[in-house]
Amino acid sequence: MIRYARPADRPAIAQLVTQAFGREAEAQLVDMLRADGDVLFELVSLTGEVVDGHILFSRMWADREGLYAALGPLAVRPEIQRTGLGSTLTNAALQVAREFGVHGVILLGHPSYYPRFGFSAEAARQVRSPYVGNPAFMALALEPGAFDAPMTAAFADAFSRV
Ligand SMILES: CC(C)(COP(=O)(O)OP(=O)(O)OC[C@H]1O[C@@H](n2cnc3c(N)ncnc32)[C@H](O)[C@@H]1OP(=O)(O)O)[C@@H](O)C(=O)NCCC(=O)NCCS
Repeated sequence: MIRYARPADRPAIAQLVTQAFGREAEAQLVDMLRADGDVLFELVSLTGEVVDGHILFSRMWADREGLYAALGPLAVRPEIQRTGLGSTLTNAALQVAREFGVHGVILLGHPSYYPRFGFSAEAARQVRSPYVGNPAFMALALEPGAFDAPMTAAFADAFSRV
């Protein structure tokens, strides 16, 4: 089952994100994004009562009209990685983002994982950012033309504090 995360899920999410990444930085990032009010939405997947997957979208600052969001972190419980849950969560979150009216999504992630959802470094080419040119820096337009012109976009402040 996939649903929006609730405040009561936070301890389970922190544990899951820490396990998935093998360190605490990403769980701390999630906490900071929430504290700063920069979370757009979070989804969790559950097996019974157990949270086994989590994805977060945060607001980006952009110098173009429209809402731009960052995907991440994305975490799946280590024992069930590579069984399709990460893909299911990502597709569900992209659908939510469309419904929220998000024009474009940007991320820093595994270059071999995110192209399957349509992300590409090529789409991020016109985004002025310190990460441009890094193959991990990828974008996906949810509205036609979202990345057609040069633009500046910045991740929420918490990303620079982890
Ligand atoms: C990355 C992650 C979210 C993927 O979720 P998942 O449920 O394991 O992935 P899926 O089952 O949907 O997809 C499996 C595919 O992802 C690939 N994949 C899994 N982890 C990967 C990784 N760290 N880097 C690159 N590709 C990865 C697998 O090779 C597989 O590819 P294939 O379909 O070509 O065989 C999950 O492995 C995870 O939580 N990893 C630790 C945290 C992390 O790195 N998060 C992402 C940060 S960008």
